[in-house]
Amino acid sequence: MRLRENISLRAYHTFGTEAKARYFLEFTDSAELADLLRENPRLFDPVLVLGSGSNLLFTRDFPGMVIRPAVTGITVEKEDDHHVWLRAGAGVVWDDFVRYAVEAGWGGVENLSLIPGRVGAVPVQNIGAYGREAASVISSVTGVAVPSGEVREYGAAECRFGYRTSIFKEELRERFIITSVVFRLDRVPELVLEYGDLRNEVEIKDEAGNENENEVKTGDEERDKVKVKIKAEVEIKKEIGDEGQNDVEAKISSTNRFDHQVAGPGPVGGHNIDITVTDVREAVIRIRRRKLPDPSMLGNAGSFFKNPVVGASTAARLRAAYPAIPVYPSGEGLVKLSAGWLIDQCGWKGFRKGDAGVHRDHALVLINYGSATGKEIFKLSEEICRSVQERFGVDLEREVIVV
Ligand code: EPU
Repeated sequence: MRLRENISLRAYHTFGTEAKARYFLEFTDSAELADLLRENPRLFDPVLVLGSGSNLLFTRDFPGMVIRPAVTGITVEKEDDHHVWLRAGAGVVWDDFVRYAVEAGWGGVENLSLIPGRVGAVPVQNIGAYGREAASVISSVTGVAVPSGEVREYGAAECRFGYRTSIFKEELRERFIITSVVFRLDRVPELVLEYGDLRNEVEIKDEAGNENENEVKTGDEERDKVKVKIKAEVEIKKEIGDEGQNDVEAKISSTNRFDHQVAGPGPVGGHNIDITVTDVREAVIRIRRRKLPDPSMLGNAGSFFKNPVVGASTAARLRAAYPAIPVYPSGEGLVKLSAGWLIDQCGWKGFRKGDAGVHRDHALVLINYGSATGKEIFKLSEEICRSVQERFGVDLEREVIVV
């Protein structure tokens, strides 16, 4: 355990803006952390947990304790015929965990490849990408309560997962330090390929490398190269032709095929594709590399805003005025809009003022080109919110945690 004072946080968060922490603690042993908490709770008032700092914007110095969990290790907690439960330390780099699972042929996290950050942040944010959320694979979350120092485990249902949120981001913010997470992965992966261009991207490889269209291999036969057959919604897309994403999504959901389907053995009719979790991981990595800036090269925190969820009447109003607007069904009477699209339409893509700006390829990503301050980036985000509200009448909510 290492406790330091008055530490610059610049190298500890991906926006790379300047801010200082009064105290800075890295720990590998949760018992030591609990002891320090019980002995000296005032050091932890307030407390901020930081993994890779990939979802944070500092607009000021932090007056209390910044904690960086350095608990590493991935262990098999238990297994049965269908699932494997893996416990990962909060300090494990998330993409190392994904690679580990994918190399073993276990399914559930392949769509979440290349998301920056560490395991401890995964439940806080309920990270999500390409049709998958971490909530679907998290079995439990263990950590230390602040200020009592009590070790506690939260089962999945207690975590109150929502879109990019959880109990750890809300009620337990500053009151719980996650030390490890248990993930339940599938021995025979059920692939989710229906988001945007993911299936097309996977098929690029498939068309080049698919040797046997009618063969099904199970996890037991070849664990590290599990192959499953997917009944391809591709046909629906091909059937629809160039109608555009909204129509494709509507048609898929109206034919009740929005969710992924895993076919049983034997030909499933039409177009069969053999796809592995490795194929999905590689496709996701290619898409992310094309669209999203690497935080080690250009300061950013991924999506700065959440995609707004609006009522059906607002969505209908917007669709009438802007027929091209992307919309995604999001539960009873609700529709998710694309914040990136809304911001893009307001002309922000590629905007730069001083060293604060908006990414040239993705309007949802704010950038620090070098020496922007947290306040400047925050101010830019306020201007963006205002312009989206004025043009579309929609309120954007920040996804990043602003300190
Ligand atoms: N779009 C634009 N202009 C832009 C950006 C996007 O028109 O500048 C349009 C796209 O063409 C597309 C739609 O907006 O029709 C959605 O864009 P995209 O597929 O890139 O996804 P997103 O909704 O902007 C979300 C997550 C990302 C995640 C991707 C893929 C949120 C807030 N963001 O972005 O997560 O990687 O989907 O699943 O939900 C993150 O949380 O940091 C993050 C990167």
